[in-house]
Amino acid sequence: MVRIILTSLVLVASLTGCWGLGFGTPSPNKWPLRVFEADDYLRNHSQIFIPRRVINVGEDIYSAIGYALANMIMINGPDGIVIIDTTETMIDSWTAYEDLRNEIDDWTKPLVAIILTHFHTDHYVGTFRLLEHAETQGWNVRIFTHETTLDEMARSSVFKLYASRRGTRQFGDALVLGEELLNAGIGLESKHNDTIVNDTLVPTDTYRDNTTVQLAGLEFELMRTKGETDDQTSIWIPSKRALFCGDNLYEAFPNLY
Ligand SMILES: *[C@@H]1O[C@H](CO)[C@@H](O)[C@H](O)[C@H]1NC(C)=O
Ligand SMILES: *[C@@H]1O[C@H](CO)[C@@H](O)[C@H](O)[C@H]1NC(C)=O
Ligand SMILES: *[C@@H]1O[C@H](CO)[C@@H](O)[C@H](O)[C@H]1NC(C)=O
Ligand SMILES: *[C@@H]1O[C@H](CO)[C@@H](O)[C@H](O)[C@H]1NC(C)=O
Ligand SMILES: [Zn+2]
Repeated sequence: MVRIILTSLVLVASLTGCWGLGFGTPSPNKWPLRVFEADDYLRNHSQIFIPRRVINVGEDIYSAIGYALANMIMINGPDGIVIIDTTETMIDSWTAYEDLRNEIDDWTKPLVAIILTHFHTDHYVGTFRLLEHAETQGWNVRIFTHETTLDEMARSSVFKLYASRRGTRQFGDALVLGEELLNAGIGLESKHNDTIVNDTLVPTDTYRDNTTVQLAGLEFELMRTKGETDDQTSIWIPSKRALFCGDNLYEAFPNLY
C-alpha cells in the first residue's frame, strides 16, 4: 500500500477551544531553533504520542493517540458507536479499538458506522479488522467516504513505487528508531503492512459537497474540505459542537506535494 501518506489528525474543537494541541511541543516563540536544540525539541515532540493513550476529548468522544500515525476516534452515541479513521495496520486498529471500547466498558453497543476522512492509508487500512469483528457480532456497518476517495486510492496505487520511496524519506524509515530517528513527525514511526491487503474498501455511503446523516442517535454533518487532500472530509456534530477535521490540521510540518 502506498506509504505516501500521512497523517493524523486530530480533532475536536469544543465550546472551550481546540484539543490535540500542546501536549509537549515547545513554544513557537523559540524559533528559530539552533542545531544543538533539535534533538531536545524532537524528544519533546514525541510526548504527543508517547505513551499511546485514549483521551476523552469531549462528551462521549474519545481519541486514541499514538497507536499509529493517525488517530482513531470514537463517538459513543445513544444507539451505537461511530468510528472516525482506522489507522494504517490491522493490529494497531484492533488495539486502538479495544482500548476505546474498554474506556467506556461497553462491547455490546453496535458499531454502526465508520467515517474515513480521506484516502491516505494511515486513515483507512485498519477498517477491515473492525469489519471482521462486526461481522461476528452481526452488526451492519455503514462506511462513509467522499465520492472521490476510491478514485484517489486507485490513482495513488499507480504511483505506489515512487510514493513508497518518497514516504521512506519523508518518514525516515531507513533510520534506526530511537537512535537516528526520534519520531516521524505526525507519529512515532511509520509502520506499514508488507502483507498485501487484498480486501477492497467498499463505501456504503458517499457524498459530493456535504450531507447530513443520523448515526447512532446523533446528527452528523459531513463536508468536503479540500486541504491536505482533495477528498478530505470534515465532520461536524452540531449537538456536541465538535469538529473532526482529518489531516487538515496536525502538529507537524504539513505535506507539501
Ligand atoms: C523541551 O521541554 C523542556 C521541558 O518543558 C523545556 O525546558 C525545553 O526548553 C524544551 N526544549 C526545546 C528545544 O524546546
Ligand atoms: C497485515 O495484513 C494481513 C492480511 O490482511 C493481516 O493478517 C495482518 O494482521 C496485518 N499486519 C499488521 C501488522 O497489521
Ligand atoms: C492476495 O492476492 C494475491 C493475488 O491474488 C495472492 O497471491 C495472495 O496470496 C493474496 N494474499 C492474501 C493475504 O490473501
Ligand atoms: C452544502 O452544499 C450545497 C451545494 O450542494 C451548498 O449550497 C451549501 O452551502 C453547502 N452547505 C455547507 C454547510 O457547506
Ligand atoms: Zn493524510
